[in-house]
Amino acid sequence: MTNAIYLTTTEPYAGKSIIALGLMNLLAAKTEKIAYFKPVISRESSEKDNHLEMMASHFKINLPYEDMYVFNRNQVVRQINAGKEASVIDFIIDRFKKLQERHDFVVVEGTDFMGGSTNIEFDGNISIAKNLGIPAAIIVKGEGKSVQEIVDTAVSTTKGFTDEGVQVLTVVANKINPEQEEEIRTQMAKALPASIIVTSIPSHKDLGNPTLKEIYESVGGKILFGEHLLSNPVNTSIVGAMQLHNCLTRLSKNTLIVTPGDRGDLIIGALQANISRNYEKIAGIILTGGLVPEPTIMKLIEGLETVVPIIAVESGTFKTVTRVANTQSRISLENKDKIALAISLFDKHVDVKALEKKIISFRATGITPRMFQYQLVKRAKEHKKHIVLPEGDDDRILIAADALVKQNVVDLTILGNADAVQSSFKRLNLEWDKDKVKIVNPAASERYSEYVQTLYELRKNKNLSIEMARDLMLDVSYFGTMMVYKGEADGMVSGAAHTTQHTIRPALQFVKTKPGITTVSSVFFMCLPNRVSIFGDCAVNPNPTSEQLADIAISSAETSKMFGIEPKIAMLSYSSGSSGEGEDVDKVRKATELVKQRRPDLKVEGPIQYDAAVDPSVGKKKLPNSEVAGHASVLIFPDLNTGNNTYKAVQRETGALAIGPMLQGLNKPVNDLSRGCTVDDVFNTVVITAIQAQQ
Ligand code: ACO
Repeated sequence: MTNAIYLTTTEPYAGKSIIALGLMNLLAAKTEKIAYFKPVISRESSEKDNHLEMMASHFKINLPYEDMYVFNRNQVVRQINAGKEASVIDFIIDRFKKLQERHDFVVVEGTDFMGGSTNIEFDGNISIAKNLGIPAAIIVKGEGKSVQEIVDTAVSTTKGFTDEGVQVLTVVANKINPEQEEEIRTQMAKALPASIIVTSIPSHKDLGNPTLKEIYESVGGKILFGEHLLSNPVNTSIVGAMQLHNCLTRLSKNTLIVTPGDRGDLIIGALQANISRNYEKIAGIILTGGLVPEPTIMKLIEGLETVVPIIAVESGTFKTVTRVANTQSRISLENKDKIALAISLFDKHVDVKALEKKIISFRATGITPRMFQYQLVKRAKEHKKHIVLPEGDDDRILIAADALVKQNVVDLTILGNADAVQSSFKRLNLEWDKDKVKIVNPAASERYSEYVQTLYELRKNKNLSIEMARDLMLDVSYFGTMMVYKGEADGMVSGAAHTTQHTIRPALQFVKTKPGITTVSSVFFMCLPNRVSIFGDCAVNPNPTSEQLADIAISSAETSKMFGIEPKIAMLSYSSGSSGEGEDVDKVRKATELVKQRRPDLKVEGPIQYDAAVDPSVGKKKLPNSEVAGHASVLIFPDLNTGNNTYKAVQRETGALAIGPMLQGLNKPVNDLSRGCTVDDVFNTVVITAIQAQQ
């Protein structure tokens, strides 16, 4: 079941608020704690977002206004221009998760499309919905479009979302011609997948007409009278240029009269008409040309019991009328009638029962790279661990260390000469936080002798002498690993300046493997554009046997679960199913059998080719009865040559972020960096090491 939905459209004034109000009303009846969230609002000014105010007030949402949005539109543009798109998404995920934790349901509203680049906004909405892992409700504006145009927009918008893995629960064509309601619904149902609920809502003039307040916002000016009646709806407007008797013939219900400010006769006549039982109520009067009525006329109006809003503007009549005509209506907090009408329109036209059922039966699938990274950092922070970084003479390590402690992700020990490390911090313009970052020089450490003795005891039957142990313990990899072995650090990350062998050999020698596991192996978390896949083993075992491959697959599946990804294991080879023959295929076939015997609970397929493993159409063709084919999340390579080259090829050619290698199977976490690593790689590897240490 989902506990959130993303409301989105493709253009301004599509009428999102009807759907938002209708949905909120539906959910408020079912759940106690409901939140409304609009990650990106349009307004930059101190004035609040109309929808957020309305939802908070109408549905009594007990949330500070600041918690209901994250950015305004211009802030997002500036962040994107500075190349900080990822951090925009991170902030949004963070705020959303907090709301989600504290509420039964969160309705998330997409952007307003009030800016220039609709394409960017369209993609932005898809990206947010995808990264929040929630389904979408799409609202298509029907006003001014033919039936075919409405259907085409519905199909292409839906495709945009579903292609990126966002499920679409419903598509609503809003503000349509009432006579085409049935036709539009039928055509959309034909063109869209059957699983999507299609709805068409006819335009309703009482919703479409602006209020005097909205008109005042677009024409500006000064309110002379009747400020308390600004919520008056405006059905039509006339220009009061003719004589009063002619003007009266043109008055109908809720008419706005636009007239030069010196037309005292017309003003008084209109106010009389408003209270006359022979004329309809008028909406208000706008006085143009910077003219206000004579003092005697003003005095007369002041003495009247019933007035309508009278607004004086500087602009001329023509300009004012154009602005009035272009004013867009919206549903706002003050206009209770419009809110009630919107909810009743929703209830009347939307198949509420079917939508309710869809919301209840929706299950999130997959995990996006940003969701994944967000969750990693969040988990690491939950139980803060202490990680040792042996390479204090590498700038990348120090820059990452600074970010890690600033974000309160871990506590750290950095190995190296204290003076040298401190002056590097200074040179890099970083602050050394003494409470969170210890600097230890192995040669000068008070722990050195005890560590030497322990290493000697552990390795003397492997021909290690005490002298050799003394030498080895001056090596930062041995010292750091011994800190982990002794429990004086929870994990180690090294390898920015050392080879894989150098980094992991001490761990293989004395941290050793977990009970039931004989092979230490590794995985990469491959953050592909729309999912995270696990690749194993691309870093440790050059030529694994069938037994080792089975070990690698089982460890990788456990890792996958540990990091919230459902394991579907593909044992990769150059042939799929029973078709291929040869030593290499047989090795994989046997490994697959071993996994099945040892862990019947795991979903595993092998031998299988990469395309059949990840592409649903190829998977269906080659292995139609497989639960894994086409949907594999854990990809096990037959040897190091294949694995290492594939991960690097995917990383370089697709721009995918590769987090790892993360070693698995060791009693305590030790992880290896590549010598070409970036600061982000160091950061991410420390984060996953901290999570491993929590297990
Ligand atoms: N699982 C468990 N234990 C192991 C493993 C393993 N996979 N490999 C070695 N060991 C143990 C051995 O049993 C031995 O234990 P013992 O001394 O107590 O008897 C100890 O580790 C040392 O074994 P060696 O055979 O001497 O292994 P060595 O230290 O030479 O190498 C290593 C091990 C580093 C894993 C080696 O297999 C290797 O170099 N692998 C390739 C690494 C590499 O270059 N990867 C690609 C680059 S990484 C990247 O691109 C990100």
